Amino acid sequence: MLRVDNITVVFGGVTAVKDVAFGVKNGELLGLIGPNGAGKTTLMRVITGTVTPVSGSVSLINTSLDRKSSHERIRAGIGLSQQIVHPFRSMTVGENVAYAAGYAKTRNPLRSILSYSRKKEMDKAREILKLLDIEEVAEATPTNLPLGYLKRLEVARALALQPKILLLDEPLAGLNQMEARKLADKLLELNRLGQTILLIEHNLSEVIRICGRIIVIDNGIKIGEGEPQKVMRDPDIRSAYLGEGYNNAAS
Ligand SMILES: Nc1ncnc2c1ncn2[C@@H]1O[C@H](COP(=O)(O)OP(=O)(O)OP(=O)(O)O)[C@@H](O)[C@H]1O
Ligand SMILES: [Mg+2]
Repeated sequence: MLRVDNITVVFGGVTAVKDVAFGVKNGELLGLIGPNGAGKTTLMRVITGTVTPVSGSVSLINTSLDRKSSHERIRAGIGLSQQIVHPFRSMTVGENVAYAAGYAKTRNPLRSILSYSRKKEMDKAREILKLLDIEEVAEATPTNLPLGYLKRLEVARALALQPKILLLDEPLAGLNQMEARKLADKLLELNRLGQTILLIEHNLSEVIRICGRIIVIDNGIKIGEGEPQKVMRDPDIRSAYLGEGYNNAAS
């Protein structure tokens, strides 16, 4: 589905990502983990086209994305839910999702601002809010909603793009254990419905529970890849997590 080949990213002389390569298979729920500052979000931004690597390439179903803009990548099937939630505060929750539903389809991003209230997009938005169990806040504005709703809204907006691959950057961050478990179950359900997902997460117990495979990066370098339980038994990977609470998460 997605291939990332030999990606290197340098920020002002500092190498944030070094020669990283991996693939995401169709229908897979792949976890991308690593300590703070490892380069996970940077890799996500390379895939979405907001960071340009000094070398390497990204392709979706054997088609290179390298020369494509972020909007073209969304239209090609890349859907992103970001680490920092950023809904439009002036729109309702439903309108936010409807806007995203229109955005992926139009060639001109501005046009989706005009179309976010159209019936077809609103119907699609309802369906997605229901899927994520947040349809009761469809008419609310995001401003005063608890984080649990906002994290789900962020996933809903990405899903509304009807992506071939859903990229999630820390969707469980800031949620309590029960909320995190519920949203992780939801991601697993989406995956079982056929949604390919690349998941960045610090919540290792949930990652280990729901992901079929994980990639580990540390200091911009890929240090592990494979079946979650097996990878996490590797002493080098455990040491990369010392002080990161891994031992708590694993027990
Ligand atoms: N726009 C930028 N300009 C300069 N340096 C950056 C920029 N974005 C990221 N970095 C640096 O690149 C490295 C990787 O950062 P990145 O945000 O990708 O890490 P991460 O794995 O997502 O971490 P976290 O788990 O804390 O979100 C860090 O050293 C960070 O300070
Ligand atoms: Mg990050």
